[in-house]
Amino acid sequence: MARRGTSRGVTSRHRSLWWQSGVLYEVYPRSFGDASGDGVGDLAGITERLDYLEWLGVNAIWIAPFYPSPMADFGYDVADHTNVDPLFGSLDDFDVLLAEAHRRAIRVVVDYVPNHTSDRHPWFTDSRSSRDSPKRDWYVWRDAAPGSGPPNNWISMFGGSAWEWDEATSQYYLHSFLKQQPDINWREPAARQAMLGVLRFWLERGVDGFRIDVAQFVAKDPQLRDNPPNPHPERLAHLGEWRHQLHLYDHGHPDMHDIYREIRRLVDGYPGKRVTIGELHHPEFDVWARSYGQDLDEIHLPFNFHLLRADWNAASVRAVVDGISAALPAGAWANWVLGNHDQPRIASRVGQGQARVAMMLLLTLRGAPTLYYGDEIGMENATIPVDRLRDPWGITEPAQSRDPERTPMQWNGSANAGFCPPGVEPWLPLASDWQTRNVAAQRDDPSSLLGLTRRLLELRRTIPALIEGTYAPVDSAEGVFAYTRRLPDEPTLLVALNFTDEPRPLTLATDGRVVFSTDPHREQGLVRSPLRLAPSEGLLLELVDTA
Ligand code: NOJ
Repeated sequence: MARRGTSRGVTSRHRSLWWQSGVLYEVYPRSFGDASGDGVGDLAGITERLDYLEWLGVNAIWIAPFYPSPMADFGYDVADHTNVDPLFGSLDDFDVLLAEAHRRAIRVVVDYVPNHTSDRHPWFTDSRSSRDSPKRDWYVWRDAAPGSGPPNNWISMFGGSAWEWDEATSQYYLHSFLKQQPDINWREPAARQAMLGVLRFWLERGVDGFRIDVAQFVAKDPQLRDNPPNPHPERLAHLGEWRHQLHLYDHGHPDMHDIYREIRRLVDGYPGKRVTIGELHHPEFDVWARSYGQDLDEIHLPFNFHLLRADWNAASVRAVVDGISAALPAGAWANWVLGNHDQPRIASRVGQGQARVAMMLLLTLRGAPTLYYGDEIGMENATIPVDRLRDPWGITEPAQSRDPERTPMQWNGSANAGFCPPGVEPWLPLASDWQTRNVAAQRDDPSSLLGLTRRLLELRRTIPALIEGTYAPVDSAEGVFAYTRRLPDEPTLLVALNFTDEPRPLTLATDGRVVFSTDPHREQGLVRSPLRLAPSEGLLLELVDTA
């Protein structure tokens, strides 16, 4: 059994690994920097912006897929796992990016898409060519149900049946996402070996780790049983049609643990402490925590998406942090996510004032934070005109569109926000606030969200308790979430976050010294209890023992 630890009990001091102490910054390559000038971002465009990332102080970037792809799902439909789509550049461009990032002590994590390929991947072309193809079982093929129709009731995450009829060979194939994304059959040994080979290819090229796409989907019920209906679909409103079933059988089969143990052994076999980060979610903390493996021998960091679902108030956020902290197996490292290319922007969700509180939360909790590009300047969901919609999910279910959070990075107030040359139409329209909300406008202003983010990243590098210190919640006034970060022989830190737009009292057992506040008006120096948090203030104090 995994040993259970409460975060409060862990006091031992250890040297953190880079992926524990560091901050992972997600780059959506289509939208970060367009060096080629065609309106779509590319690898060279990321390389050009590495100085910015170094200045900001992030330790690692995760680059969403840049592999050859028909782009039905913007790169998550991989047609060749070991190359670069010409839209994004070449393998040489990747090598330059990797070397330049490493020169700046920035690690590079690439996306690994194990559940499916593109329907144009040569493996699938071969598999669908005949029932006798040696690669037939690399994918999941089944006869129609007795009578006719799909083999079971599974539905695609993007809507409609998860089965597509193939006229030529008179069978259905499984696709948990688009029909252009057939599911790989990990139970077939040769397919499994081929997918492990993909990991070796990138590890040998020098990448520092993988973000594993829809990690739970690699193992399904071998009997392909029907999913039962979900009696409470309203609780999963963010999921469109998919919410109408209880997904007992179409993903998350226990056999996935064996796959991740094998992947872990493979990755750990390479020097340099590389990392696997799993994209997976389970509403129950304990079930989610199993993805670390019983002996912490599976995914190093199963993404923790629970804050994305929490109501934005002090009590709900504290409940998530306490719940995750308690469910974390002893020795496992937490991680926190407030945004990614599939989720509405945090600044739109909570407002610009609270976006500052959110950033402080993300960067002061115990665990590895993931920062989505543009969240450091408070980028908001853009309004996308219907004729500019690109996300296939948004085209079938408009409420689900992920285009609003994927718009070009806002670098400056010049044409196209500095993302692509003037006169070129970016692949998605810019958010309407680009002329005022951009990196150049905030860079020299320490009170901006960018200034705040950079300062907090700096504090993480200089105050060990922010990385290794234990977490313990401190009961506080309604609307305030406060916690300590404590490390032996170091001053105890207190973080107090006001989730309301009104002042709130804060009572301390001792005096404190202001280390940082999201409120530019907060005076530095000693503070005495009781004090008053300004509306939407996040305050970091060093507690001063007056005994
Ligand atoms: C999760 C990715 O983050 C998302 O963008 C993609 O559409 C699906 N997986 C399918 O690969």
